Amino acid sequence: MLKKIFTGLLSLLAMLIAAVLVAYLYYWRPALAPVNPPAAAAFSAQAVDRGRILAGMGNCAACHTARGGADYAGGHGLATPFGTIYATNITPDKQTGIGRWSLAAFLRAMREGVGRDGAHLFPVFPYTHFNLVSDADLTALYAYFMTRPPVYAVTPANSVPFPLNLRPLQAGWKLLFFKPASYRIDPAQGLDWNRGRYLAEGLAHCAACHTPRNALGAELGGAAYLGASIDHWYAPALTSANTAPLPWTRDELYAFLRTGATALHGVAAGPMSAVVHEGMDAAPDSDIRALATYFAGVAGAEQRKVDADAVIKAGIVRSQRVSLVDNDRGASLYVAACASCHSNSDGKPVALRPELSLNSAVSAPDPANLIQVILHGISKDAAMPGVLMPGFAAALTDNDVAQLAAYLRRSRSHQPAWTNLEAAVARARATALGMDGAGK
Ligand code: HEC
Ligand code: HEC
Ligand code: HEC
Repeated sequence: MLKKIFTGLLSLLAMLIAAVLVAYLYYWRPALAPVNPPAAAAFSAQAVDRGRILAGMGNCAACHTARGGADYAGGHGLATPFGTIYATNITPDKQTGIGRWSLAAFLRAMREGVGRDGAHLFPVFPYTHFNLVSDADLTALYAYFMTRPPVYAVTPANSVPFPLNLRPLQAGWKLLFFKPASYRIDPAQGLDWNRGRYLAEGLAHCAACHTPRNALGAELGGAAYLGASIDHWYAPALTSANTAPLPWTRDELYAFLRTGATALHGVAAGPMSAVVHEGMDAAPDSDIRALATYFAGVAGAEQRKVDADAVIKAGIVRSQRVSLVDNDRGASLYVAACASCHSNSDGKPVALRPELSLNSAVSAPDPANLIQVILHGISKDAAMPGVLMPGFAAALTDNDVAQLAAYLRRSRSHQPAWTNLEAAVARARATALGMDGAGK
């Protein structure tokens, strides 16, 4: 019996090793020779400017620029379940950046997730999306990065433990989860929708945050845009599973992606703030509209039409009633700390004074966003001009924040109560203090 198990295990092991070997050979890539790339003046100003807009859409700076560091010089650590992985220096520095990369090496990195030296890159670098970007757009990106000021900056070593840090193992990951493709137009849909989908699935990689991942870090097939946790925030579902009281429409999506806030949903804070304010703000209006058209389809906007005025009215009535009647700790905290700014007694919700009965964070399945906003407020970069949502981390205990969140949930949404709120608040506080080992 034992012997049988032993030989069984042995042949399983042999098969595993054979599979890894096959994947390794199949995905083996040569180093590409270092080159002296064209001088900055050789790139057309037009290509460079187009590259600048595309780099914003691809949110490259969010990962490749460390807080307080030089633009694109790398060193920002990304916390993954496997350890911290540092985004690299993508300035054209010849020693520490991509200054000796040919266009071919750059294209291969973006399309296949392979470094110039032939090493496999980790999929926190969203090459799984960038492979859909057109030749012309990738060439413009190359022009943009090759004309940035070169910065000498050595990327810190990753903290991924052995054996997961072995790059050849990424060949196995690619075999399981990655098929390079190019964008194929869906002729049944209009130009605008196709443009939106091309941007969303490719360069803007919206799914990288909004789609849940499996245990090996790959986006789950069949679960596109169903919502996922990211950096102690929650990226809500963008499908009809979205729980915001008012279903997203094309106009609301456009306003949110263009300005970062809408009266009927809330503010793009946390990681979404950089997407809007440091990424897409340079993109032409036509591209933002195209994204809104595509995601209106993803959200099933046509099928989810509601009487918006009625929902707004009922929400405001609910907010007013409950805050007067309830007399528990959560309600008292709300009256003391929040009501002065968040009351809409005149019956009209405005973006500058978010109506919490309509706010996405209060209705989301995960309390992370509401907790973050109560603790840390909304940063100047994410805020609408001229207003301030202050943070209450110093004024309120974990238990206070939990009671307040539970109260808002109970009084201003139709969703089930959140559980383990106090522990979630403690975790959110710990991260802000940089206690998770990563962060900018
Ligand atoms: C979500 C974070 C993230 C975003 C967004 C991102 N990158 Fe990266 N990128 C990384 C990480 C992390 C690595 C290093 C991966 C590794 O070490 O395996 C990397 C590696 C690279 C490399 C390979 C460099 C080298 O030295 O091997 C290139 C080129 C690159 N990124 C370009 C870009 C461009 C251009 C954009 C924007 C269009 C972009 N990246 C957006 C995280 C990101
Ligand atoms: C780096 C991670 C990240 C990327 C990339 C990202 N998002 Fe988000 N998104 C978030 C997070 C986190 C939130 C919640 C923010 C908040 O509550 O303020 C969010 C919120 C949203 C919301 C509001 C949802 C709601 O119900 O309130 C929309 C709409 C949205 N994102 C669309 C997009 C689109 C479209 C893209 C691609 C162009 C995109 N996101 C890319 C992380 C991301
Ligand atoms: C000084 C006025 C003020 C106070 C006090 C205040 N808020 Fe806010 N709050 C704002 C403003 C203004 C915004 C919109 C912020 C923006 O665009 O920058 C906001 C936004 C929010 C949001 C929306 C976040 C999102 O992602 O959509 C929530 C939730 C919120 N506040 C909850 C609270 C709670 C709970 C309290 C009490 C602990 C509170 N606020 C106290 C002014 C205030």
